[in-house]
Amino acid sequence: MNDYILETENLGLRYGAFAALGSVDLKIKRGSIHTVIGPNGAGKTTLFHCLTGERKPSSGSIQFAGHDVTHQAPHKRVAVGMSRSFQITSLFQNLSVRENLRLAAQGRDGLAALAFWYSENHRRQHSDKADEVIERIKLGAVADTYAGELSHGQQRVLEVGMALCSSPQMLLLDEPTSGMGVDDIPVMTQLISELGQDHTVMLIEHNMKLVMSISDRITVMHQGNILIEGEPEVVSGDERVKKAYLGESGS
Ligand SMILES: Nc1ncnc2c1ncn2[C@@H]1O[C@H](COP(=O)(O)OP(=O)(O)OP(=O)(O)O)[C@@H](O)[C@H]1O
Ligand SMILES: [Mg+2]
Repeated sequence: MNDYILETENLGLRYGAFAALGSVDLKIKRGSIHTVIGPNGAGKTTLFHCLTGERKPSSGSIQFAGHDVTHQAPHKRVAVGMSRSFQITSLFQNLSVRENLRLAAQGRDGLAALAFWYSENHRRQHSDKADEVIERIKLGAVADTYAGELSHGQQRVLEVGMALCSSPQMLLLDEPTSGMGVDDIPVMTQLISELGQDHTVMLIEHNMKLVMSISDRITVMHQGNILIEGEPEVVSGDERVKKAYLGESGS
């Protein structure tokens, strides 16, 4: 089996004359926690959007788990094992944690799930998946609480849980700690680290303490391109990285 679950070649995305992504060659090792960092506007989210299919790249290709997914629709990528975290805004505030997760588990079957002949067996599978994920994300105590009544930190954890419902091989998490209070960050750090034991995790994150403590590899982006890539110790000591961040605050 190929060591790399995801490989991009010359991946680029232009908005008119502006290259939000220049030419990105990225390789993500199967089973690793691979974090993408970089100053605001570096192209991290744009890269994610190209990988998950929300944006069409202007150039290059994306190989995922043996499939060329470059031109595939987002749901097809989910079907072959790629899943990104949802946004709080896409949680159903008036449904319980369990109901949100059941809907996410059902999402994979699309509209078929609404049909009257849709089997009891399938429904049970979705409930089982929801229960399994609740345990995984340790929200058992609030399983029947409305999503809207959860703390911000718990909502962010639920978002990650929603992504787990499609039983992905690879999870893509864009700033899972954003807006979180400092007290909630260790819980998210622990969760991502645990998920890294049986998933490939691709993470975008600004919290350096979290990044340095759980990443196997770090890619630093700057102005739409990869600046450097390496293990945390190598990246944190690199002068070019410091410069890229200083350049941001100086502009
Ligand atoms: N729809 C769009 N049209 C034009 N430019 C865009 C569009 N979306 C993003 N950009 C630009 O592309 C660049 C990269 O944006 P992106 O959101 O990928 O950055 P980021 O690294 O995720 O930053 P942050 O850390 O702030 O989330 C930015 O300069 C942004 O303004
Ligand atoms: Mg972003």
